[in-house]
Amino acid sequence: MAVDLHPNLWPPFTQMASAAPPQRVTAGEGALLIRESGEPLIDAISSWWVTLHGHGHPQLAAAIADQAAQLEQVIFADFTHAPAEQLAVRLSELTGLQRLFFSDNGSTAVEVALKIACQWWVNQGQPRQQIVAFEGAYHGDTFGAMAVGERNLFSAPFEDKLFPVARVPWPATWWDDPHIAKKEETALQSLDSSLETPTAAVILEPLLQGAGGMAMVRPRFLQQVEERVRASGALLIADEVLTGFGRCGDWFASRRAGIRPDLMALSKGLTGGCLPMGVTMASEAVFNAFVGDDPALTLWHGHSFTANPLGCAAANASLNLLEENPAAFQSFEQRHRPHLEALAGHRRVEHPRLTGTVAAFDLVVEGTSGYLNPAGPTVKRIAMEHGVFLRPLGQVVYLLPPLCITDTQLEHCYRALRTALDQL
Ligand SMILES: Cc1ncc(COP(=O)(O)O)c(C=O)c1O
Repeated sequence: MAVDLHPNLWPPFTQMASAAPPQRVTAGEGALLIRESGEPLIDAISSWWVTLHGHGHPQLAAAIADQAAQLEQVIFADFTHAPAEQLAVRLSELTGLQRLFFSDNGSTAVEVALKIACQWWVNQGQPRQQIVAFEGAYHGDTFGAMAVGERNLFSAPFEDKLFPVARVPWPATWWDDPHIAKKEETALQSLDSSLETPTAAVILEPLLQGAGGMAMVRPRFLQQVEERVRASGALLIADEVLTGFGRCGDWFASRRAGIRPDLMALSKGLTGGCLPMGVTMASEAVFNAFVGDDPALTLWHGHSFTANPLGCAAANASLNLLEENPAAFQSFEQRHRPHLEALAGHRRVEHPRLTGTVAAFDLVVEGTSGYLNPAGPTVKRIAMEHGVFLRPLGQVVYLLPPLCITDTQLEHCYRALRTALDQL
């Protein structure tokens, strides 16, 4: 058992026998986490990709405090409230999807999207069984989300409980990738053959698969996917839990990719990363199939904390910040680019890639590839010694900082990365 693990805590994604003891954090200020020792650490992955505007943001803190003094929670089945309505109006305008269904996190936002898609077909009297998903996908840790995600070490104990999914290759690409056209063609052919079976929905992470290794695809590929999905009559689900709210350089990755999903799952940056909340956006055409006299048409799904007013207030305040300064996310790619270009020639770097606020590359290392490759933890440790918090995904190293990170802090991250690579 790790020496300093708290006797009453069970941390996520952690093997307690071998993990380094967690460090106690006492505060957050902008891009910095402040440890109990007083030492700052640049949070270069936005605390699992959620912290959008930085830690301790005064406008977000004030919005939550004001709302807490007014109304902290109310059952959302018989009541409604202004922060939820305001958020629904704003997100329908921004996503082009008229209806908002609340849940609690990214996994539940995906679960709801899947349930809506399946029931949409049932409600119309023509149930369709098949769901199509992509290789390498990660959609969360609840059962439905696990089922559509790539099957791996994490999902193995539950394999017999996961519903079957048709799987299509994800043509991940990077700078100067000579094989991309062929990879996309293969993926589209696989999609075509999968769609010969009547399909309820196709689910994808637009532009960027996150946990699957910061694997980026070209917009044109997604447009070709959408054409095929439309032709098949299936619904298109965009899991924008990570990519939403500017992460990919536009409000939503779907928008940047030029696709129009029927359902969209959002979480993480939704509340500026302050409070747990998920939403599933749905088109009016999807919503309409759930309206009628027959109780069986109802979406019988809900969560205790549906539309929690504190979460809604944080989300509205976060949208204010994004609207006041869209350049913060629109121009982030230009901030990364010269640094990543400089690193791209390093002997330990291959497949450099960049979308919006997310810069990534693969480590050139010996041994097994994948999540358990030891090179990632080594890079993590060395970067930490230089004041930067990273969390590589196996041999995939990435930076995904909060929008507020200063140029000096960003430079510091890349310097620490170079030092780690030199020492590998
Ligand atoms: C694309 C995507 N979907 C869903 C999830 C699950 O979100 P949560 O961890 O909030 O359940 C994640 C989490 O990383 C994600 O990246």
